[in-house]
Amino acid sequence: MDLHARRADSFGAQAEAYAEHRPDYPVAAIRWALEPLATSERLELLDLAAGTGKLAAGLVAEGHRVTAVEPNEQMLSELVRRVHDVRALPGHAEHIPVPDHTVDAVFVGTAFHWFDQEKALPEIARVLRPGGVLAAMWNEPDTDVEWVAEFERISGTSVESQRDAPTCVRPHPLFEAVERRAFAHAHHRNSPEDLIATTNTLSRMLVIDDEERAAVNEKLLAFLRSRPETSNGPFDVPLRTEVTRMVCVSE
Ligand SMILES: C[S@@+](CC[C@H](N)C(=O)[O-])C[C@H]1O[C@@H](n2cnc3c(N)ncnc32)[C@H](O)[C@@H]1O
Repeated sequence: MDLHARRADSFGAQAEAYAEHRPDYPVAAIRWALEPLATSERLELLDLAAGTGKLAAGLVAEGHRVTAVEPNEQMLSELVRRVHDVRALPGHAEHIPVPDHTVDAVFVGTAFHWFDQEKALPEIARVLRPGGVLAAMWNEPDTDVEWVAEFERISGTSVESQRDAPTCVRPHPLFEAVERRAFAHAHHRNSPEDLIATTNTLSRMLVIDDEERAAVNEKLLAFLRSRPETSNGPFDVPLRTEVTRMVCVSE
C-alpha cells in the first residue's frame, strides 16, 4: 500500500479519539451549500466519507434524511454508535452504494483530497438528481491568528500536510456553477492536552512512528503551556470552514 492509501485508511485506528476530538461543521456552511436547491423541504442528503459522523450529525440536526457512506469499518461503527437517524453504509466515493438520481445533495467533510476525482466526480453525479448539489468542505486552522500559525508549524512531521491544496475540487463537465466561501468556525478545547489529542487524529500523525510522534507532542505541549491564549484552562481554536459547492448539470 502506498503512503497516500495508508493515510486515507489510517483514521480507524483512532476512531474513538477522532469522534471525541475533531470539530463539527458550522450550520451556516451547511445552509449555504443547500441554497442552490432553493427549497425549505426535507431533503435526501448523502454524507460521503462520513467518518464518525461529524458532518452527518449537523445534516440530521437540520431536519434532513441522511445516508452516511464510509469505507473504514471502525469509523463507521463509531458513527452508528454516536449518530442516530442516519442510514449508514460501507462504501467508497469511487463506488457509492446508492441508486442513480436519488440524492438532492452530496456532502464531503475534510475528505475530498482522499478521492480519485476522475472516478468520484462521475459517481457523485450518478447518485445526484439533476440540479443536485455537491458540497465539499474542509475545517482548516485559521492561520491568520499568530498562535495558530505557530502551532501548525510546530505540528509538522516528516509526512507532509494534506492541507497544502486541500480545497481543490477539479472542474468537471458534469458540474457547473462552482462557488467557494469560507465560514468562521471555532473548536472548543478544554486544555492543551485536548488540542494535542485533536492533532493526533491527523493522518500525518497517525502514520509516523511512535518516537517521532512523542517528540512532536512534547514540543506542542511546551508551546501550548507557554502561550497565554492556551495555557490557562479552556480555549477556542479559531477555524475557517472552506466550502466548495457546485451543481450537477441537468441532462
Ligand atoms: C479526515 S476523515 C473525515 C471524516 C468526516 N467526514 C469528518 O468530517 O469528520 C477522512 C475520511 O475519509 C475516508 N476516506 C478515505 N478515502 C476514501 C474514499 N476513497 N472514499 C470514501 N471515503 C474515504 C476515511 O476513511 C475517513 O473516514
